[in-house]
Amino acid sequence: MAESKNLWGGRFKGKSDAEFADFNNSFRVDRRLFEADVAASIAYCQALESAGVLSAEEGSQIRSALNTILENGRTNEDYFDNDSSEDVHSFVEARLIEMTGDLGRRLHTGRSRNDQVATDFRLWLRSAIDAFNTTLREAQTSLLDFAEAQRDVVIPGYTHLQRAQPVLLAHWCLAYFEMLARDRERLAEVRRRVNIMPLGSAALAGTSYPIDREALATSLGFEGVSRNSLDAVSDRDFCVEFLSACSLVMIHLSRLAEDIIVYTTNEFGFFELGDAIATGSSLMPQKKNPDSMELVRGKAGRVFGDLLALLATLKGLPLAYNKDMQEDKEAVFDAYDTVSSSLKVAATVMRNITVNKDRTLVASSGGYMNATELADYLVRKGVPFRDAHEIVGKVVMRAIELGKELEQLNINELREYSSLIEDDVYDALSLERTLGSKSQIGGTAREVVKAALLKARKSSL
Ligand code: ARG
Repeated sequence: MAESKNLWGGRFKGKSDAEFADFNNSFRVDRRLFEADVAASIAYCQALESAGVLSAEEGSQIRSALNTILENGRTNEDYFDNDSSEDVHSFVEARLIEMTGDLGRRLHTGRSRNDQVATDFRLWLRSAIDAFNTTLREAQTSLLDFAEAQRDVVIPGYTHLQRAQPVLLAHWCLAYFEMLARDRERLAEVRRRVNIMPLGSAALAGTSYPIDREALATSLGFEGVSRNSLDAVSDRDFCVEFLSACSLVMIHLSRLAEDIIVYTTNEFGFFELGDAIATGSSLMPQKKNPDSMELVRGKAGRVFGDLLALLATLKGLPLAYNKDMQEDKEAVFDAYDTVSSSLKVAATVMRNITVNKDRTLVASSGGYMNATELADYLVRKGVPFRDAHEIVGKVVMRAIELGKELEQLNINELREYSSLIEDDVYDALSLERTLGSKSQIGGTAREVVKAALLKARKSSL
């Protein structure tokens, strides 16, 4: 394609330094805004026509050319290649002028790339958030499918990574489901603020043409128009909010990843990863490594980097638009790509886990995770919880000395610590009773988790 002319040549005599031109050009990055840019231009053309700046005939010629440009961009893979346009806006305008000559030169009337880029980016991000919502839902579904397939499995629950109390594996899945549900809510919130139209703010002071901004916003599916032109062209809060929501998704995925990595170690042995999502070692023939989850965990750092990079870029910028802001796109695109692929890989991992039920059962039955049950048993017999806690602590110490679990102590050994302990204690200490007692909303009792799964399934649609 021919070398493109800059949109601002008139005031300049000299040529741009080649290295600087390359540094300044953003087309290789912002070409992703191509469809948004054309859509916004088509709507803007209509607004110019309604404002009487373009005749009906002129408007329809421009729109038809823009539609052809859109079609070319969608179908012709090398349409963008080897083009030296400064940015996506220059690219689209250049193609328009190629096709319509002087007429195409009228489209930019009353518009600036400053309100144009903010509008395009919001349009792009709006669909990106919608696509994200679907990806998040698919990840949630993979958690629910796994939970249902492993409905009976109990694992140790941990605090401080020390065995604490047994929980259903499905309960563990639902914990991650909740995190992703909050992520979806957060993104829906962000979307509301993304969906405001800056177009018509022009360079910074507003447009001098009688553009009906409200009608323009409606035609582009925006919820409303920006109220202040200086703010509209320089506001990138919506990018920061998006990156912040992305960072939380990555926090959640990295915690899921860490749990899975730990559970697949020989030391835990709860999970085995399918060959499809594990890798081997070039040196150690026996290795099966959880690279899929390690990468998800690792990529979290990269997304936080995107957030911090943009915060640092925006800090202290004077009103209104500054070229620094062009950096916003790389951060947002990178975070979007990284979070999307991480979510997809996490969902694939969930579909490729085999649970070693012998190991989970042994791990859930040992390690004194029913000690709190024994304390609760004493509470039911009238002992204040603090005293019960103390008594059971001593019983545990004794059991450790004898190398036994609590339920392996005989009744006399137990009664040495409290004469209130009777034969029914063994039932209270069983794994099923331990689980079953957590029967309030949010607890891990089997019927509560079953109901929570049903509810989750419905809510995630
Ligand atoms: N490529 C620019 C960006 O992404 C578009 C806006 C440029 N405006 C300007 N006055 N230089 O921010």
